[in-house]
Amino acid sequence: MKTIFSGIQPSGTITLGNYIGAMKQFVELQNEYNCYFCIVDQHAITVPQDRLQLRKNIRSLAALYLACGIDPEKATLFIQSEVPAHAQAGWMMQCISYIGELERMTQFKDKSAGKEAVPAALLTYPPLMVADILLYSTDLVPVGEDQKQHLELTRDLAERFNKKYNDIFTIPDIRIPQVGARIMSLQEPNKKMSKSDPNTKATITLLDDPKQIEKKIKSAVTDSEGIVKYDRENKPGISNLLSIYSIFSKRPIPEIEAAYEGKGYGDFKADLAKVVVDELAPIQQRYHELMESTVLDEILDRGAEKANKVASKMLKKMENAMGLGRKRK
Ligand code: TYM
Repeated sequence: MKTIFSGIQPSGTITLGNYIGAMKQFVELQNEYNCYFCIVDQHAITVPQDRLQLRKNIRSLAALYLACGIDPEKATLFIQSEVPAHAQAGWMMQCISYIGELERMTQFKDKSAGKEAVPAALLTYPPLMVADILLYSTDLVPVGEDQKQHLELTRDLAERFNKKYNDIFTIPDIRIPQVGARIMSLQEPNKKMSKSDPNTKATITLLDDPKQIEKKIKSAVTDSEGIVKYDRENKPGISNLLSIYSIFSKRPIPEIEAAYEGKGYGDFKADLAKVVVDELAPIQQRYHELMESTVLDEILDRGAEKANKVASKMLKKMENAMGLGRKRK
């Protein structure tokens, strides 16, 4: 069985973007692959976080993974900071990275733009992500489109390490969904939907209630044409809503366009809100049950134990390859 690794930051409640771009893929893939799904809390602290809120977000994200359909009997679910090999291997990957290539990462450029004091970890974030992936001899990484550049760096660094030290790393492939790889903000449809967006009208989170969902979709930015038609360049707002509609209703976009011919955006948006509410209702119900149960901690304990076993073996191989410490078997 081939291995999958992917992660989500507990930096806020996950959005429809994370769900469509990442989580839905995870749920499908867990049946065919040996999967590791991680709550990457060490990545989240590259920007300031409130201590208590971060703890809450970690737990809530664990429950959401399960509520969305991750099965702990099939996949390993764990918290990054509970597997110390990640930070250790991350340091080693930093040592073989160049500042130039890290400065070229668009996420670094976006997140550091206009800031007077830029945390060093924003720059060294990608080598930690590289370590996350390589520690598990990962074959495939399912992510949204925004992670593509980080995955290219992962492949580069794995090859660099293999050539320079010892051929120990598998070179992972990236898997981006065909539709929904980049769900856009409801308020600025040329910007991706992001769970850390301070404008709450721009995102739909997995825990929004039906009223909030209706309101946010109703106020989603579109255009003045009044024609429900997919055209990413000229009609980014409506195109984004059409993608979401198509994914959740499992209907092709042309069929939806035809169904709303001659009708305005009002009808379309009202129906889309219903489709989204129906998709999220069972997830929310499971989520609330999980948050009240004790199984969450048991699952995370088991996940950390399994991940620690696998990751520490690879860490030893890395240390041997680089000559750190004393030789151990
Ligand atoms: P994060 O937490 O920003 O996002 C988690 C996943 O959701 C995808 N995603 C989106 N997909 C479609 N449309 C959007 N608007 C959208 N926004 C986010 C992301 O592509 C991602 O798949 N660096 C990563 C976390 C990470 C990781 C890893 C991922 C750390 N180590 C190792 C894979 C492998 C991140 O910030 O994801």
